[in-house]
Amino acid sequence: MQFHRPLRLLTAATLFTLLAFAPSCTAFSQATEYSDKPSLLLGAAWYPEQWPESRWDADLALMEAAHINLVRIGEFAWSAMEPYEGKYDFDWLDHAIKLAEKHHICVVLGTPTAAPPAWLTTKYPDTLRVDENSVRDEHGNRQQFSFASSRYRKFAHEIAEKMAERYGHNSNVIGWQLDNEYAAPSFDPEAKTQFHAWLKAKYGKIENLNDHWTTAYWSQTYDNFDEIPVRQDHENPALLLDWKHFVSDTWKSYSENQISAIRPHADKRQFITTNTMGWFDGFDEYVVHSNLDIAAWDDYIGNEHYDYFDNGARHDLTRGFKNKNFWVMETQPAFVNWHRINSTLARGQVRDMAWQAIGHGADAVEYWQWRSALNGQEQYHGVLVGADGTPVPVYDEIKQVGDEFEKTGKALLGTTPQSSVALINDYDSRWAINFQRHNYTFDPVAEMVVFYKPLLNQAQGVDVISAQAPLSKYKLVVASGLNVLPKETAHHLLDYAQQGGNLVLGPRSGMKDEYNALNIERQPGPLADALGGRVDQFYALEDKVPVSGDLGSGTATLWAEQISTKSSDAKVLLRYGASNGWLDNQPAAITRKVGKGSITYIGAWLDDDLLAKVTASLLLQSGVQPVISNTPEGVEVCLRAGTNKSVIILINHNNTDVHIELPRAMKNLLDDTSHTSVDLHGYDIAVLQEK
Ligand code: GLA
Repeated sequence: MQFHRPLRLLTAATLFTLLAFAPSCTAFSQATEYSDKPSLLLGAAWYPEQWPESRWDADLALMEAAHINLVRIGEFAWSAMEPYEGKYDFDWLDHAIKLAEKHHICVVLGTPTAAPPAWLTTKYPDTLRVDENSVRDEHGNRQQFSFASSRYRKFAHEIAEKMAERYGHNSNVIGWQLDNEYAAPSFDPEAKTQFHAWLKAKYGKIENLNDHWTTAYWSQTYDNFDEIPVRQDHENPALLLDWKHFVSDTWKSYSENQISAIRPHADKRQFITTNTMGWFDGFDEYVVHSNLDIAAWDDYIGNEHYDYFDNGARHDLTRGFKNKNFWVMETQPAFVNWHRINSTLARGQVRDMAWQAIGHGADAVEYWQWRSALNGQEQYHGVLVGADGTPVPVYDEIKQVGDEFEKTGKALLGTTPQSSVALINDYDSRWAINFQRHNYTFDPVAEMVVFYKPLLNQAQGVDVISAQAPLSKYKLVVASGLNVLPKETAHHLLDYAQQGGNLVLGPRSGMKDEYNALNIERQPGPLADALGGRVDQFYALEDKVPVSGDLGSGTATLWAEQISTKSSDAKVLLRYGASNGWLDNQPAAITRKVGKGSITYIGAWLDDDLLAKVTASLLLQSGVQPVISNTPEGVEVCLRAGTNKSVIILINHNNTDVHIELPRAMKNLLDDTSHTSVDLHGYDIAVLQEK
């Protein structure tokens, strides 16, 4: 990285941005609740149980040399902690935690419940999960337990409690990870009984369920809850949605079972979390995070195709689970072992990714894994240290990240990303669309990223939040596909617009109610009156359809909705050109002033260029300005602010050099010099202090 020093005046836009952000920032952030621990953490997943104790000190010394100050341990070590039923051995874990402390490395403890020991599953096969086709898992691999099994939960509670009794007040243990990557539900008899009880609790009388599910269709009418099948596809859309809700609640109670074992024995400063998987939609993350302290996720690209927009959206999504800074609990040291071609990130991109995580609000970045196990299912995965115990090439790049975290940690302490733009993530809508895509290429997550991309580019900060989150701080709220729109959510959104917010709804919005039944008003259902228009018909597209308006022209692909205006003050923004006859010259996007704000409906999956023109116009109308204007393509600008402080992270995601003009002199925290422009090599970064 090189810097230039010519001084330029602060632009009005940037002055506005800085003044708007710095004093209003209230969210507090730090990596841990322990004031004696570093404010940014760099970590590795370490498996001491796989190595002779005589080797541990050498590993920890190599970590310390790379500025690693965190290890996560224990999450698959149940058979080492409880080798026989009720016989515990924690001596090795005591030693590992102590030795880590000697090297100034703090510890997150994983409860080992993603990998039950063979004695447990052999003696109690009813704890094993059953798949949708009624096939029970055998012992082997991992995650072979039933999330609903009361017997499994009893064992999980016991091991978590034993760990908490021993380490709940260990000054070197800063937090807990429950299990590992919650994923597959179980269809065992106990889970089915629980699902029926869950439905009974929700609907009370079977008649209510029959009504909301429209069970007259195909003779599905039920006389009692026990008759209801348990499936996750090829079923009534209402059943499918309720199954997802049940799965979400069951994972939440699965967490609660372990939280109730840990919390009574744990220092209040120790957080409890679990590690999630970005866009994974097996359950509703907002439900599952309601009893966790922080959000944490496993950030894998899988191959060399690092799409920084998609990855940035996944960071912002995770931050939105608790609306505060989060952890990257795992990320790849260059490459993984589970993709079709496990190609590597280029030299420099591991550092680029680490800083993107920090820019989006991570306070810890942890690599999976420290060292290749000699055997086991993941021998080819990227590591920092090879089987021979010496560093692999990426070690030095991660060491550089560690050095930079040390230099910038103090400035970043108490800061969090800032945004006046929000993108809505709604699991019900994603599920509802995925159950019946109508066009198999319509991926609701891809459509979210299509909207996210120009918003991030132009606003340089996006929050990804649930449809129920408070909205008043946002100038622009975009719901790319709010397919399921219950009346209550519609009121929440309408209230936001009436109070001065700008609400944008993307294609397929407002079609369904909370039971996944069609709304009897046309789209956007309960918001059609406020919009002053409605969708007359939706069309899945095989070919591109031309679209144009005052903002520009382009095409619609995959999906196009024929819109009509009902109010004279609803303005048409875009119209379709000639295509199937139905769409010809019909509105594709309309907007209307509502109270002090506006509602805009975009009924088509627009191409990137046209959508970028639309979002630019919406941002302008909403008064949203970038942090730094005129940055080169492929350069990301991340602002983190706290009380009386703000830090800007610049990331050059290109593999070529770029030049960036700053609005005024800023301090480079990596070498303590002041500059008004920055030159970055490919994949290089800069960390600049505003105040
Ligand atoms: C997941 C798991 C880890 C490891 C990595 C490999 O994230 O949590 O245990 O298997 O994948 O990429």
